[in-house]
Amino acid sequence: MESELDYWSARALLEWQVELGATEAMMDAPIDRFGLEDQKPKAARAADAPPPPVKPKTIDPVAEATKAAQGADALPSLRAAMEAFEHCDLKRGARNLVFCDGQAGARVMIIGEAPGRDEDLQGKPFVGRAGQLLDKMLAAIDLSRDQNVYITNVLPWRPPQNRDPLPAEIAMLVPFLERHVALAQPDVLVLMGNISCQAVLGKRGITRLRGQWEQAWGKPVIPMFHPAYLLRQSHAKRQAWADLLELRARLNSLN
Ligand code: URA
Repeated sequence: MESELDYWSARALLEWQVELGATEAMMDAPIDRFGLEDQKPKAARAADAPPPPVKPKTIDPVAEATKAAQGADALPSLRAAMEAFEHCDLKRGARNLVFCDGQAGARVMIIGEAPGRDEDLQGKPFVGRAGQLLDKMLAAIDLSRDQNVYITNVLPWRPPQNRDPLPAEIAMLVPFLERHVALAQPDVLVLMGNISCQAVLGKRGITRLRGQWEQAWGKPVIPMFHPAYLLRQSHAKRQAWADLLELRARLNSLN
């Protein structure tokens, strides 16, 4: 049997609840909030959910290098772009960036492989034993880095223990090399050894390639034996001499 609450009883009940600590009037019946989760609006549930794991962004070092190289409009800014390039691990093991030596704007641009110990210490290409032989080879055809030759390497950082550069390392440094050639504007490129043939011509086989003119990046290109190879294999100096004469003849004909 239902009996209606009279005013005084209802008031007494309310005062009793206030004494017990009730501070707000909410609902007639209790709410099971654990059972409510599925009825929450979708947006509210999504907001409560833990954030999805962040996918690491994959970086394409060749694309990054291409962007950085294209942004350089002169040799000093190209050098700065290479200094700022963080995607080649060789940088972390090297003392110095080896960018260039000789005369920017010279007719002959020589592209070597990578700095060795002496080059890493001095920050200049071809300053060790191979470099001394290179200077003698150039002098024999009336060229010198003080006057009419510009020199760089495929890799600006020394590989650990002078190991061969990895294909991925070459690939990410080629955009800088190509820009280097475009900004230095030589008449001809001389590729010293297999690594520079790989970088510029996309192929190896220096014994077959040497002494033969090819075209790359809009320039005549001649591959030659690397001076470090000539230090070990002096019988190959005869062929190197023939290639130097070929270079001299080409320069004379372009005069
Ligand atoms: N060998 C190279 O190819 N480059 C240098 O700078 C030194 C040695």
